[in-house]
Amino acid sequence: MAQASGKVLLFGEHAVVHGIPAIAAAIPAGVQARTSGAERHGLVLRAAGSPAEVARAEAGDGSRLGDALAALLAALPDTLPATGLELTSDLPFGAGLGSSAAIAVATARALDQRYGLGLDEDALFAAAMAAEAVFHGNASGLDPAVALHGGLLRFERGTPPQVRQLRCPSALELVIAQVEAGADTRRMVEGVAALRAAHPGPVDALFASIAAIVASAEAALARGEQERIGALMDLNHGALCALGVSTPALDAACHAARAAGALGAKLTGAGGGGCMIALVPSHQAAQVARALQPGSLHLLRTPLTGMEKP
Ligand code: PMV
Repeated sequence: MAQASGKVLLFGEHAVVHGIPAIAAAIPAGVQARTSGAERHGLVLRAAGSPAEVARAEAGDGSRLGDALAALLAALPDTLPATGLELTSDLPFGAGLGSSAAIAVATARALDQRYGLGLDEDALFAAAMAAEAVFHGNASGLDPAVALHGGLLRFERGTPPQVRQLRCPSALELVIAQVEAGADTRRMVEGVAALRAAHPGPVDALFASIAAIVASAEAALARGEQERIGALMDLNHGALCALGVSTPALDAACHAARAAGALGAKLTGAGGGGCMIALVPSHQAAQVARALQPGSLHLLRTPLTGMEKP
């Protein structure tokens, strides 16, 4: 059995695609993969706790999942015999919590274990990136990096990407709420690229502002300054609104969380729907969760520290 965790993007989504650093944390939910015999390469995806299939695909069948599997297999150093993959996820799909990268990393790990490929982290990352490029188009690589390494990470796109573990001395508690169905990440990333092409000066100024937010957040995390971290989340949400990736429902959920006592709130991931996160003082967590519950498809309360490698 192989596994990989999902993530929340704390700071820097979208700007990270354009070379700005971002900060993300693994969450205690993810994807498990096991291999089985098969006549063709293929996979079956189920939600944890349910025998029903969410999706089924064969490598290269023209579906995004099937084409991602084909790309992952092509990026491996060896040609493998036909293999079936059984994937179980306790992450909501397409909600901005990194489900596609967790699928890719868990799949690469399962194949590595099954065939003794001896893949190191760079080779696992390369295989997962090949799949992620099919899912996301111009993917930064942040999601596969968190799925692979776990923990609290600063990530900067590049060849190779720069990945650094961060430490935060105080226990941060997040409420994560899926407030509506997620949008297509690829479409959201393309939307920001189109906005940048139309208005390069203003959009680059927003990216520079997000870079400053990320740098301040790194310092605030290192000192465990919760109120400052929360305020920076609010600022980052504002910049994401300006980039056109928030929605009325995400904005309303952020307002509701702040009114219920959150220190800060923002959308997380690609936006256009999906999830928001709120940083909460422990004694306010239940109140914030209650304020978000009515509109939430999925709600998770999680401490940020103590998220270890899967
Ligand atoms: O919504 P998610 O989990 O797919 O997050 C995507 C993060 C982006 O910055 C929007 C895209 C990327 O590849 O970094």
